[in-house]
Amino acid sequence: MSLLEVRELHVWFDLQEGRELHAVQGVSFGLDAGERFGLVGESGCGKTTTILGLMGLLPPTASVAGEVLVGGESILAGGESSVRSHRWNDIAMIFQGAMNALNPVKKVLWQIVEPMELHGIADGTQARRMAGDLLEMVGIPASAGERYPHEFSGGMRQRAAIAMALACQPKILLADEPTTALDVMVQAQILELLVGLSNDLGLALVLVTHDLPVVAQVCERAAVMYAGEIVEEGPTEALYHAPRHPYTRLLFAATPDLYGDEAVVSIPGAPPRLDRAIEGCAFRPRCDSSLDRCESEHPEFRAMGAGHRAACHLNDLPGEERAAREGARRAGSAAPAATPGGGAP
Ligand SMILES: Nc1ncnc2c1ncn2[C@@H]1O[C@H](COP(=O)(O)OP(=O)(O)OP(=O)(O)O)[C@@H](O)[C@H]1O
Ligand SMILES: [Mg+2]
Repeated sequence: MSLLEVRELHVWFDLQEGRELHAVQGVSFGLDAGERFGLVGESGCGKTTTILGLMGLLPPTASVAGEVLVGGESILAGGESSVRSHRWNDIAMIFQGAMNALNPVKKVLWQIVEPMELHGIADGTQARRMAGDLLEMVGIPASAGERYPHEFSGGMRQRAAIAMALACQPKILLADEPTTALDVMVQAQILELLVGLSNDLGLALVLVTHDLPVVAQVCERAAVMYAGEIVEEGPTEALYHAPRHPYTRLLFAATPDLYGDEAVVSIPGAPPRLDRAIEGCAFRPRCDSSLDRCESEHPEFRAMGAGHRAACHLNDLPGEERAAREGARRAGSAAPAATPGGGAP
């Protein structure tokens, strides 16, 4: 049984004048204890909405459907009280931009003590000692907990945000773009910290980012999201070496390779609006190898190998034909440009 299982999660946001935006469109994935799983995709594809949805933290303008199971127990079905009993205790989250959202008028230590006391984990001196231990665990001297967030560097604030998320000893940590606003050296240190924590504490980690190579570095498995859906999921090795969705292939090609000398190419166009129904494959207008049927038929998920699945009509073609089609179109479509997604916190 998976530690976390998300089944057919949908989120709609109410817009004005009766319109709605279908931000998450049937997302399913599972996570085992201690596993590191990546959720990747361009800005606006629904990553944050997915994880806020499974934490029960979306605003009242959102409607949610689907199931979220923690240890086999459905947490959304029982309403707010049921989600609340799991939130932070079993499943915790580092918010996108969390390092800039620490309370400026409270000392850092207190910001870790507070959730502990609120959730009945510990209080008083014991909570303060535990909060100090957590700070040490994330690489901050316990004594620095007596300082205010503005006295911390960006990297230290992100470490403090991680310590806060761990205050109630969760089994699952959802980290939303935890390294985006940091410089490259600090990014590497924070990723190393998250990997270390997942190894040492047996913590299951969902790493949410627009940066596919970061996921390939940190996670054993990943799901690639596009326009509110997961379009490919599998072991990161398989996604890198044998992607079965053009978007995954193009995402890797659109990010500089640390060791390679291949030119970075852009993915032309932009993701579709999610406040309108999408016919056929949502990626078709930007795809470099689409088929006629992609215009009208929505591709279903199909198994591609052990734990590897993808939703792309190209996979119905014989392997050689598919490869030839991708190769031929790719040769003509490469254009130098920036990396995908804004990724701004
Ligand atoms: N509160 C809201 N009300 C209406 N629409 C929203 C709301 N929050 C998000 N959206 C929309 O839902 C879609 C998914 O947004 P989301 O923030 O989940 O994307 P994301 O993948 O996390 O992007 P980023 O990489 O920029 O963080 C977008 O079209 C966004 O505009
Ligand atoms: Mg986001």
